[in-house]
Amino acid sequence: RGDAGPCHSTAERLLPGAKFHRYVSGPRSVVRSPTPYAVPAKLAEHLDFVGGLHRFPAKRKVVSRAWATEPTPGAQSQQGGFHLGVTPSVLRKRYNLTKEDIGALPNNSQACAQFLEQYFHQADLAEFMLLFGGSFGHRSSVDHVVGQQGRGKAGLEASLDVEYIMSAGANISTWVFSNPGRHETQEPFLAWLLLLSNMSALPWVHSVSYGDDEDSLSGAYLQRVNIEFQKAAVRGLTVLFASGDEGAGCRKSPGGAHAFRPSFPASSPYVTTVGGTAFKNPFLVSVEVTDYISGGGFSNVFPRPDYQAAAVKKFLQSATKLPPSSYYNSSGRAYPDLAALSDNYWVVSNRIPLPWVSGTSASTPVVAGIVALINDRRLQRGLPTLGFLNPILYKLQEKGPSAALFDVTQGCHLSCLDAVVEGQGFCAVPSWDPVTGWGTPNYPQLLKALLAA
Ligand SMILES: *[C@@H]1O[C@H](CO)[C@@H](O)[C@H](O)[C@H]1NC(C)=O
Ligand SMILES: *[C@@H]1O[C@H](CO)[C@@H](O)[C@H](O)[C@H]1NC(C)=O
Repeated sequence: RGDAGPCHSTAERLLPGAKFHRYVSGPRSVVRSPTPYAVPAKLAEHLDFVGGLHRFPAKRKVVSRAWATEPTPGAQSQQGGFHLGVTPSVLRKRYNLTKEDIGALPNNSQACAQFLEQYFHQADLAEFMLLFGGSFGHRSSVDHVVGQQGRGKAGLEASLDVEYIMSAGANISTWVFSNPGRHETQEPFLAWLLLLSNMSALPWVHSVSYGDDEDSLSGAYLQRVNIEFQKAAVRGLTVLFASGDEGAGCRKSPGGAHAFRPSFPASSPYVTTVGGTAFKNPFLVSVEVTDYISGGGFSNVFPRPDYQAAAVKKFLQSATKLPPSSYYNSSGRAYPDLAALSDNYWVVSNRIPLPWVSGTSASTPVVAGIVALINDRRLQRGLPTLGFLNPILYKLQEKGPSAALFDVTQGCHLSCLDAVVEGQGFCAVPSWDPVTGWGTPNYPQLLKALLAA
């Protein structure tokens, strides 16, 4: 800990009460104030928060993360295996997308957002489509990059996102938002959202496979970001977030007790959150079960929104194997809202086809592409785009069992490794659950329902 230097005396005058010091830990150093700050009353009403003052980078190795999991060798193929991992044609078969189910309108578009210096390469996308895009009409390049892509190697997350949003939302014009910098060492979500708010023409659907522990961010920042999600919803944008790859998560309180650890923005009531599934038989296009990594649970910050009140109440009343109530805030926003396959994908990154890529990072762009396809059909009929999906989705499903989504009813996701819950979080049940939401898309039926919505 040392003197923070002359610039900081100016900052101390601007923010009375703050006392800046430089904190050094190994090769890293940060400037922070251990004391509270004040702002002049006249300024306060114009400020949402002052960042970078109090919170230290989290001790855990990675808090900010892209949700794609590096390839790890999986089980070997069984005799006579029918597929050796998820490819666009496997996905399209499972979700009943035919050759005709591709985008037709030049003025429809979809996007994914990248953070943490993750870049995609157009050449990887072209190779991916050459290898895996033979059975459906598609585009092989991203039309528009907002922001600067670095010149380095392609990132696995970025490669996965563009390859799969463009396979599900096939032949739909695709944008990538490449977001530089950090918010307190994590993704600058607010800067990305302010950029969207500042643009008048932009894609209707946004897929984001990044997230942070909800408790690693300040309340004021969470609320401010949440307001931007509300603005996006009002504009008719659909914003989808990956639910995370750590099941219910786990956090040790200062007193030593364990609790689940929700992820943000997955826990925002104004985004649509996508969980993960796996094929019951990993080598067949078969029914889906919970992928044990699928993020899900209850926000400790955002109360449960009305649109999901009945669904979550029903889950809490009827689930038989609920974890102890001290592990989660049962009145919080519950997520995910729906799911898709998240296990065992093929991705081309740096010209190399890689198997066994997993995570809700994979399921999110798949659902995003399907939503963009439904927008395409709605726009063809002169209907507005779907916009914020959750109220429509919950209303649709609460009418009774619907064929629009494949309900996932088997399997539990992971959580704290302790003697009380023994690594188990929540379990999938019929209809909505905080592991796979309402289930996975059955495209023709979902389209039918959402054309009528
Ligand atoms: C692909 O989309 C374009 C509009 O962007 C459309 O003109 C074209 O017909 C579509 N391709 C196919 C095979 O439907
Ligand atoms: C919004 O756009 C205006 C005008 O182009 C620009 O001056 C401003 O910096 C932009 N703000 C953000 C947050 O991008």
